Amino acid sequence: RVAGPCVLVLFGVTGDLAKRKLLPAIYDLGNRGLLPPGFSLVGFARRDWAHEDFAQVTYEAVKENARTPFREEVWKQIREGIHFCPGEFDDDGAFDVLSMMLKEIDQTRGTGGNYAFYLSVPPKFFPTVIEQIKRTDLAKAPDGSWRRVVIEKPFGHDLKSARELNAITNAVFPEESVFRIDHYLGKETVQNILALRFANTLYEPIWNRGYVDHIQITMAEDIGIGGRAGYYDGIGAARDVIQNHLLQLLALVAMEDPISFDADALRREKEKVLRAVQLPADLATGTARGQYARGWQGGEPVVGYLEEDGISPDSITETYAAVRLEVANRRWAGVPFYLRTGKRLSRRMTEVAVVFQRAPHLPFSKDDTEILGQNALVIRVQPDEGITVRFGSKVPGTAMEVRDVSMDFAYGESFMESSPEAYERLLLDVMIGDPPLFPHQKEVELSWMIMDPVEEFWAAHGQPEGYASGGWGPASADAMLARDGRAWRRM
Ligand code: BG6
Repeated sequence: RVAGPCVLVLFGVTGDLAKRKLLPAIYDLGNRGLLPPGFSLVGFARRDWAHEDFAQVTYEAVKENARTPFREEVWKQIREGIHFCPGEFDDDGAFDVLSMMLKEIDQTRGTGGNYAFYLSVPPKFFPTVIEQIKRTDLAKAPDGSWRRVVIEKPFGHDLKSARELNAITNAVFPEESVFRIDHYLGKETVQNILALRFANTLYEPIWNRGYVDHIQITMAEDIGIGGRAGYYDGIGAARDVIQNHLLQLLALVAMEDPISFDADALRREKEKVLRAVQLPADLATGTARGQYARGWQGGEPVVGYLEEDGISPDSITETYAAVRLEVANRRWAGVPFYLRTGKRLSRRMTEVAVVFQRAPHLPFSKDDTEILGQNALVIRVQPDEGITVRFGSKVPGTAMEVRDVSMDFAYGESFMESSPEAYERLLLDVMIGDPPLFPHQKEVELSWMIMDPVEEFWAAHGQPEGYASGGWGPASADAMLARDGRAWRRM
């Protein structure tokens, strides 16, 4: 899979995402030999920088955050294609300069008018940047070339704003040129959900309500909001993570097999699942939310959310959210899908746990099996990537005692190949024009339709419950599962 020559125009180069993920991912692609010849990177930001300054910023980001070893010759090649265009998003003159710069790059580097515009900017700037791209005719691809736009989540704030944002985007870029990034879909372990389910015969026969008791999808983080107060406050955990990453995981776990791995086939199946998702009848008991209070993390005291820089002391933004969903179709009717995410939890861990029903009859004495749990298949998305199967096994000895054991698959042990970072894979797909890993607008809207009623309910119910930093979230989240006779997995 190789991309043709092109320019990546990055709006928002001074942001956290560019520094931590995007700039290093470009270098890593180069290091793996996956950048096209003549590849050029144009940074656009409100800084008084020359090309060299942006190159230096890129160099530092690469040195700090790239996953592959630093090689001078790869950096030199990338460095030759780095340009910077200073300006405000509402400055016509700056965009005219950008337009000329791109034409010049086509001449000197043979990029043939192929441009990807990556909007790594706060959502409030989307319309202005898109409008400028339109005004300068940069979205119109001459014959034989392409123009694409890449947008980062959040795609709107709710269903209404997501539709408005989409109307603005689609008025300038046709749908097939819009690439919406949900970086979870770029993760190796997330793509492996489809391989696990559809490349094997082992699991699919029991992947349904006949055998599955419930499913837990967890995205736990130990970090707080760091320097992202401006983005996070007013958004919260459910909009930040459940509406996109976790509902996409749910769709991949619950969907029927697509007839092929092409974008339309995949989206059709994901959409069917999202359409079938049902909220609990009572949102008070079927959802939970919390806000981190002071506590300890890694042996250090940490401040509560309300004491973080830039957060108003009466903010009701949740930093933990959990919801109990069902998928109303023949495969899943009655099987709860518990989704949870939170900041400042005990540790960083994302996983999907498929928990199976207990054996209908145990021919062993009760004492021998009392501590026996339920069989589970756990897809460890990160950090310790792999898959675990939990099942009961006889304890060696003269008695017939049965105890839970694990069978493990770890990426590091089975594969020599290193996993590319999610953004590497996604940036390459943008340059190639390969859409399966990018959510379609319909999926975005269906996900907002699921979460909007929850957000409205929470907005009307004041302050979220506090939870100590370094723990596992608010008591109401535990109570939500306890009511069903279940418990969250603890690791
Ligand atoms: C982002 C969220 O989408 O995902 C962040 O906005 C979160 O709040 C991040 O920290 C986590 O990504 P990852 O890849 O580290 O799990």
